[in-house]
Amino acid sequence: MKRLDGKSALITGAARGIGRGFAEAYIAEGATVAIADINFDAAEATAREIGAGAYAVQIDVSRQESIDAAIDAVVAHAGKLDILINNAALFDAARTVDITRASYDKLYAVNVAGTLFTMQAAARQMVKQGHGGKIINMASQAGRRGEALVAVYCSTKAAVISLTQSAGLDLIKDGINVNAIAPGVVDGDHWVHVDSMFAKLEGKPLGQKKAEVEAGVPAGRFAVPADLTGMAVFLASKEADYIVSQTYNVDGGQWMS
Ligand SMILES: NC(=O)c1ccc[n+]([C@@H]2O[C@H](COP(=O)([O-])OP(=O)(O)OC[C@H]3O[C@@H](n4cnc5c(N)ncnc54)[C@H](O)[C@@H]3O)[C@@H](O)[C@H]2O)c1
Repeated sequence: MKRLDGKSALITGAARGIGRGFAEAYIAEGATVAIADINFDAAEATAREIGAGAYAVQIDVSRQESIDAAIDAVVAHAGKLDILINNAALFDAARTVDITRASYDKLYAVNVAGTLFTMQAAARQMVKQGHGGKIINMASQAGRRGEALVAVYCSTKAAVISLTQSAGLDLIKDGINVNAIAPGVVDGDHWVHVDSMFAKLEGKPLGQKKAEVEAGVPAGRFAVPADLTGMAVFLASKEADYIVSQTYNVDGGQWMS
């Protein structure tokens, strides 16, 4: 018996990176997984590569009608929804005096409103089904404290931690466990983008910021998505039925709280 046998999962932002890693791990544990992404072509390619049990779904978590359509697509395909991972997010960096409203609005629409309203839509479906569920939100070490050039992203991830606490306390009444994972630094396309932004902002050659950050990780290296999958499987499994509103650091020792 696998740990997620017969479960139907929806993972946002799963076309690449950490979300894709979660999808692969969930399939290996017996779940059916909706690879949901704003980039539908990439989601389809990823679903094809992962193989049986994975299917692509279009979602833009910043648009309510797109969230609702994605939940409907999961129910049409798998008959139900048992697990949501709210993984899609955007990053930006700027000096405080240079933050734009456009950047703020975009990050809050995806990272905060996207997390809340995808969680709400999934919870409504789970309540209707009447046998609980699991919701996992992707926070970050960035949500544990501020960073000089990352005010907006850090604050969106602090909001994810707070939403996880409040929604978790409410939804456990319906047997839905809401928890979060706070990664440290995870290698992939995201960090290519982050490194290039810091190169511009701090006048560093490409790759230098990443090397400096890596040198500060107590575990001695960046994470890869597979470093996070154990926690994601555990939080979606029956073993986590008594875990409510928590955010777990999986970060090689970068933060303690
Ligand atoms: N990589 C890291 O170092 C790191 C560290 C801490 C937390 N995180 C968090 O982990 C999660 C995954 O990170 P990643 O590094 O895999 O990111 P990524 O940028 O590699 O992947 C994000 C995915 O989300 C999709 N996406 C973007 N906007 C969307 C929208 N509006 N609707 C639906 N999908 C959308 C993208 O197309 C992409 O496939 C994010 O929540 C991120 O904040 C990442």
